[in-house]
Amino acid sequence: MQILEVSRIPLGSWPTPLEELRNLTRALGGPRIFMKREDLCGIALGGNKIRKLEYALAEAKSQGATALVTSGAVQSNHVRLTIACANRLGLKTFVVLRGEKPAFPTGNLLLDHILGAAEIHWVDPKDYTTREELVRATERRAELLAEDLRRRGEVPYVIPNGCKPLHSAFAYATCVLELLEQMRALNLAPDVIVTACGTSGTQTGLILGSLLFAQGQIRVVGISVAGKAELLKERIRRNLEEALSVLGLEMDLPAQAIEVYDDYVGPGYAVPTREMREAVELLARTEGILLDPVYTGKAMAGFLDLVRRGAFEAGENVVFLHTGGVPALFADTQAPAFYP
Ligand SMILES: Cc1ncc(COP(=O)(O)O)c(C=O)c1O
Repeated sequence: MQILEVSRIPLGSWPTPLEELRNLTRALGGPRIFMKREDLCGIALGGNKIRKLEYALAEAKSQGATALVTSGAVQSNHVRLTIACANRLGLKTFVVLRGEKPAFPTGNLLLDHILGAAEIHWVDPKDYTTREELVRATERRAELLAEDLRRRGEVPYVIPNGCKPLHSAFAYATCVLELLEQMRALNLAPDVIVTACGTSGTQTGLILGSLLFAQGQIRVVGISVAGKAELLKERIRRNLEEALSVLGLEMDLPAQAIEVYDDYVGPGYAVPTREMREAVELLARTEGILLDPVYTGKAMAGFLDLVRRGAFEAGENVVFLHTGGVPALFADTQAPAFYP
């Protein structure tokens, strides 16, 4: 199978803008910094889920789905964007959220209501001791909800949080192709791409894209926002191998091709850190660009630290992927982090 032949339903506005961050480059005195604006892809405040959902929704449609079932954290960007994309295709979205139902919705949850999720079900974190257990219970609940919907006469299609690894891999491999074309128009080539790493699907796709379209010459740096680097690296390797095998390709995956840092998570997923706040404020005040507190803010904090530690050459072109998530700035759980 050829990657460009995999079926997808166009949903976003492509290509997303590629911007050079001249002020940030000057302030840091390191590599030349660009930003690929996946947050500006045209649907419901954008983000990295739209490319993935183009594949997921093509599969859903091919199976005759009448409804989508998906799950995530209270402030899930994935859930917001799944509802938005489903709306474009006339599908209903049933949602399972892990977390305590707040007295009134803010941030992404407010947008879920405005976009009109068909139903929102809650999984209470108090019933689970670890985040992993809670995540698994939420996914199980989504499967049960799908069974219930079948009994109610719907044809449900379940989208895991962050989408299937294969769809993520195809989505961000083809994003690399788009980026290469944009850089070529400037007579440049990307040396490094930096991304937030959550489920790791985006990073997997970027590495696949580097292998398929740039002979593995683009270094892909992932900054974890939750998981341990070793576990994420294992998952990325597994998912890359699956993607390569679906494409009928055999390629060596040298260990250094999978580069993940877990030093910038702080106390936990979505828990604000001082470095995240500084990174969000720096980008806002040098470039007028808003990052988010959960993903791109922590990824930028990691990137800034790596630049200061000399992890990139002065002449290199580094592209930071803005994967979206900005609605979380307005979440009641995040906004207080930005008060003096
Ligand atoms: C805004 C944003 N950035 C980055 C990520 C991480 O992407 P991935 O799950 O593909 O690693 C996510 C989702 O998890 C996200 O919502």
